[in-house]
Amino acid sequence: MHPLRLFRSTPFRLALAFALLFVCAFLLSGFVTFNLIKKELEARYDSQTKELFQVISQTYGDSDIQDVIDATRMHIAATSNMRNIFLLQSANGAILAANIPALSVPDGWSIRQGADFGIRVGFAYRIYAGSVGPDRLIVGTNNEETNELQEIVVASFGWALLVVIALAIGAGALIASRAQRRLDAVRDTMGRVSHGELAARIPLLGKGDDLDLLSLDINVALERLSLAVESMRQVSTDIAHDLKTPLNHLRMTLEDAGLKQARGEPVGLELELAMTEAGQIDETFEALLRIAQIESGARKSGFCLIELSDVLPSLVDVYREVAEDSDQKFFFNSEVGESTFVSGDRELLTQMYSNLIENSIRHAGAGAGIRLSLFVQGDSVHTSLEDSGPGIPKDEHTNVFRRLYRLEKSRTTPGTGLGLSLVKAIADLHGAAIWLEDAAPGLRVVLAYPRAGK
Ligand SMILES: Nc1ncnc2c1ncn2[C@@H]1O[C@H](COP(=O)(O)OP(=O)(O)OP(=O)(O)O)[C@@H](O)[C@H]1O
Ligand SMILES: [Mg+2]
Repeated sequence: MHPLRLFRSTPFRLALAFALLFVCAFLLSGFVTFNLIKKELEARYDSQTKELFQVISQTYGDSDIQDVIDATRMHIAATSNMRNIFLLQSANGAILAANIPALSVPDGWSIRQGADFGIRVGFAYRIYAGSVGPDRLIVGTNNEETNELQEIVVASFGWALLVVIALAIGAGALIASRAQRRLDAVRDTMGRVSHGELAARIPLLGKGDDLDLLSLDINVALERLSLAVESMRQVSTDIAHDLKTPLNHLRMTLEDAGLKQARGEPVGLELELAMTEAGQIDETFEALLRIAQIESGARKSGFCLIELSDVLPSLVDVYREVAEDSDQKFFFNSEVGESTFVSGDRELLTQMYSNLIENSIRHAGAGAGIRLSLFVQGDSVHTSLEDSGPGIPKDEHTNVFRRLYRLEKSRTTPGTGLGLSLVKAIADLHGAAIWLEDAAPGLRVVLAYPRAGK
């Protein structure tokens, strides 16, 4: 992967951020550990120094300084590499025993650099000074071991740090390039989709990880999108195709009128016909726009609780007379002892049932029986509208919901073929399932709403 791209990749940045965090924690813990060990060592050396001081000063008995001088010389002989320094001075400043030149330090603890008394540069000595009888004894220990410890700690932490950083960058780059490959697949798919290849889908690894889940969601969205685009394409073609006929009729009527007018004949009839045809085209567009408006979902904000057992009887009353005019019988069946609330828009629901009832009246033919039923099934409120007409063949059950689609046998009846499309749009808006069944004989349209309220 290109270094610049690698640096831009989120997983790599995350790996780096974690590495940085880890390094900080590592340095902090190293610093604390080192200081604790250093403190402990210094305390130990201080107590050794004090012990040396006391061992030597205890040899002072009966005001005899000679034992102290001997003890000091013995310890000087035993010390190697100037690890310890000793200085025994008489009250007048004469050096009685020492492995360093004269040195002036206050009583108690002090620190001096080795260079101060002309020995090994680079080490410091922690010194304890005090009186022994009339004389003065100085004992010191150098910090060589703590220095060595410091070097070891710094070196080992340094190496560990290098390994951590190398591992973080290496692992980060590896993880980043893997994640990047999968993100590239997503980008590639989206690029293909934006160039019109709606069937493109993101390949899934089947690991079930977050990227797989995200890809799955995108794929589902793409599937919906392509179905929606496909149905839009279908709808536009259907509309263009179906509107050609009435427009041709209108043009022919106007042409007839033109010819008649050229011959000086009256054209009143043709113009009236043209007006009716233009009116029908206008109605078709109105209905198409209405469906589109319902499908946009804007009406959903005005939804309220509607009791279907209140809405349906008044509709039945209105249409019973119309049915009787067509020599048909209209029944209403309501077998509910409980509430039939649904969440919805009263005007749209009325429009939907009007369309369905008008279909039965129009397509079932004279003498047919029509029955509207309302019942509750589990968590759903069901309605079914059944007629004893010729029905719709099973293989046409989905087609009739398409815009402008009419069965061949209905071409002679008035209508645009948009009634059931509007019904479907309203049912979808209400979250209701709609399906057709064979009522043997006749058609049954069933609607199942999610039950709302108590
Ligand atoms: N109850 C029914 N019995 C038999 N056929 C029906 C019935 N309802 C609908 N159909 C068929 O389904 C087709 C589509 O119905 P739809 O309601 O969409 O259009 P339409 O009734 O012809 O016209 P309109 O737009 O005026 O409603 C109808 O043309 C008819 O062929
Ligand atoms: Mg209809």
